Amino acid sequence: MNSALICVLFLFSPLIFALPIDHSVDCPFPNGTDKAIHSYMCSDNEQFSISDIETYDMNGKPLYPIDPRQEFILNLTTYNHGPQIDDNKVNVKIYQYKAGWSGDCQWTSIPTFGLLNGIDGCDFAHNCPLTSGPLYLILPLDLSQFSSIINALAAYKPYQLEIRMFDYNANSKHEEIACVMAQVELS
Ligand SMILES: *[C@@H]1O[C@H](CO)[C@@H](O)[C@H](O)[C@H]1NC(C)=O
Ligand SMILES: *[C@@H]1O[C@H](CO)[C@@H](O)[C@H](O)[C@H]1NC(C)=O
Repeated sequence: MNSALICVLFLFSPLIFALPIDHSVDCPFPNGTDKAIHSYMCSDNEQFSISDIETYDMNGKPLYPIDPRQEFILNLTTYNHGPQIDDNKVNVKIYQYKAGWSGDCQWTSIPTFGLLNGIDGCDFAHNCPLTSGPLYLILPLDLSQFSSIINALAAYKPYQLEIRMFDYNANSKHEEIACVMAQVELS
């Protein structure tokens, strides 16, 4: 390559790299996520099942879509089919629903740089202990410590949170005890 060509490549490289990132086609909100949160278990037969998720603002008023920059409250209707959990860790992956290279709408992973791995559920969501049997968890969440990730998310788009919880009881082998997929519109 001669130096003129390299120079031209340099000049245009921001353009070359920037162009393919803008998928201007908007995908429809899947599973009614423009109206309400949609959740389902992503693994069957684990220790916890979650049958309902509701979201409120800090005054307890129903909140949707969710602004992750503000504190909000999660109301989880769950069932612990096993023993009490005194310690748990949580891994979260985030996906955005958008058009891929082929033009089809699909869930595309958002880089989180490992920041959402090994979150201490007891410290972060104050959800401990998780007693056996039916559990109604009211969890105020403040995501401000994850602002570097949240600030990269676009408003009024569908996102999917894959939330996996692991048993960190003293005698445990750190087994996965729940996997829940929460599909939401973030504002
Ligand atoms: C919609 O939800 C169902 C489970 O309720 C899930 O299997 C399906 O993959 C979801 N669709 C999309 C596009 O995520
Ligand atoms: C939490 O959700 C359950 C199930 O929908 C509901 O019965 C309960 O009243 C809710 N709790 C609060 C504090 O709103």
